[in-house]
Amino acid sequence: MGKAERIDPWSSDQSTDYARIVDRFGLDTVDSSTLPNPGMLHRRGIVFAHRDLDVVVGCIQRSDPFGVLTGLMPSGRMHLGHSMVIDQVRWFQEQGADITVTVADLEALATRGTSLSRGRKTAIAEYVHNYAALGLDPETTNVYFQSSRPEVQRLAFTLGRRTNLSELEAIYGFSGETNLAHVQAPLVQAGDIIHPQLDEFGGLRPIVVPVGIDQDPHLRLTRGIAQKTNWFNVNSRKDGGITVALSIQGNNAGHLGVLPDGKLDSAVRAGVFEDIEAGLTNLGFSDFTANLKHGTIDIPGATRSDRSSIRMVLLALERDMGGLGLMPPCSTYHRFALGMNGDKMSSSKPETTIFMDDEIGQMSKKVMRAHSGGQPTVEEHRRIGGDCSKDVAYQYLQFFFERDDSVLDDIRKEYESGRLLAGEIKQICIDGATEWLLDLKEKREQWSGRIEEFLAPDAI
Ligand code: TRP
Repeated sequence: MGKAERIDPWSSDQSTDYARIVDRFGLDTVDSSTLPNPGMLHRRGIVFAHRDLDVVVGCIQRSDPFGVLTGLMPSGRMHLGHSMVIDQVRWFQEQGADITVTVADLEALATRGTSLSRGRKTAIAEYVHNYAALGLDPETTNVYFQSSRPEVQRLAFTLGRRTNLSELEAIYGFSGETNLAHVQAPLVQAGDIIHPQLDEFGGLRPIVVPVGIDQDPHLRLTRGIAQKTNWFNVNSRKDGGITVALSIQGNNAGHLGVLPDGKLDSAVRAGVFEDIEAGLTNLGFSDFTANLKHGTIDIPGATRSDRSSIRMVLLALERDMGGLGLMPPCSTYHRFALGMNGDKMSSSKPETTIFMDDEIGQMSKKVMRAHSGGQPTVEEHRRIGGDCSKDVAYQYLQFFFERDDSVLDDIRKEYESGRLLAGEIKQICIDGATEWLLDLKEKREQWSGRIEEFLAPDAI
């Protein structure tokens, strides 16, 4: 696989060929018309792809519990790019999700050398205040630190048994020179993503992880590992129907009716099948074809849309039997906003973005200098019109500052027709950004002293 074919979560040099990424990595595309109360980023195609989002949509529709897990390394300052994920988190929270926020202080220590005490300071002073200011509800938000949640670290070790260097090499492009921090961090991140399903953190329920596309390798790794731990596989059959198949592993063979000599323990196997069939009967299925010896149960009447409820029943059964019972995480992916210079946005290049604590003057200067889709002269601009696809001011209104679709659409039409000049659209962007920054500042101040409301008990 060539370099261009990979997504590297540690590189700031990201591919923006989104159609190709969707294709190459088997993502599904987001159709906002199928979402309940689609948010601004969904309606505008900025959240463009997902894995298993339909599972979460089902929970929203049935008012079933589901969670969101998100995380950030506490290094550097928060900027526009970060607000997109938080926007999505808030949307999920409004649809009924509980929220877990990872402060990836171990990852920052391993990959950037940020000390744990510095990471903690930055997280509290900068990150949690901004999460609060961006409108998360503390009632159902829990911020924790990787370094102070042993269950996450333990999971990293447990899950590490289910992968190997070749897989990490294929996913991340590691070589002999790769620093081991880049092996540790994804395993801890898998622990982050999986752990809200543990009984002590809310129990079995779907967990969705909204991320930039650069984080998809971590999701692929975590989903793969979770699936490998499952005791029961749920497969759609070509001729319709669903087959449940036992996945015999070293630690579950006895439970699933395999004797130490490899022979079938019919009594135990029959007991397992009875439990599975009882669970499926509760879901309303009555027609099964069981093959004890092969360890399969066919459910001819089930369809693809029954898969996730069947999975839930089997994961609960797996837990009762002593297994982990882990669901692969769901995920959504957003596009990256252009950097101020028309290229990539990067926190290490302050001129390419707006920080959440920028002064209005600093922000205005950056917008005035930002890459423009306007024409070189007013005369030409009036004739040809502006190009929104290259215009930073327009895109920042679209991604961040103009929440009203019809107002945004008017701005686009005015700009493309040449009636609105490049300097004028920049001024609209500055006005929007000013309001956004002042609002954030005010809310950060309102929350100061009350930040503990967002922290999990093990983070205080
Ligand atoms: N790797 C993420 C980053 O670079 C931080 C992170 C750690 C994270 N755990 C996570 C992100 C879980 C999403 C979900 O910022």
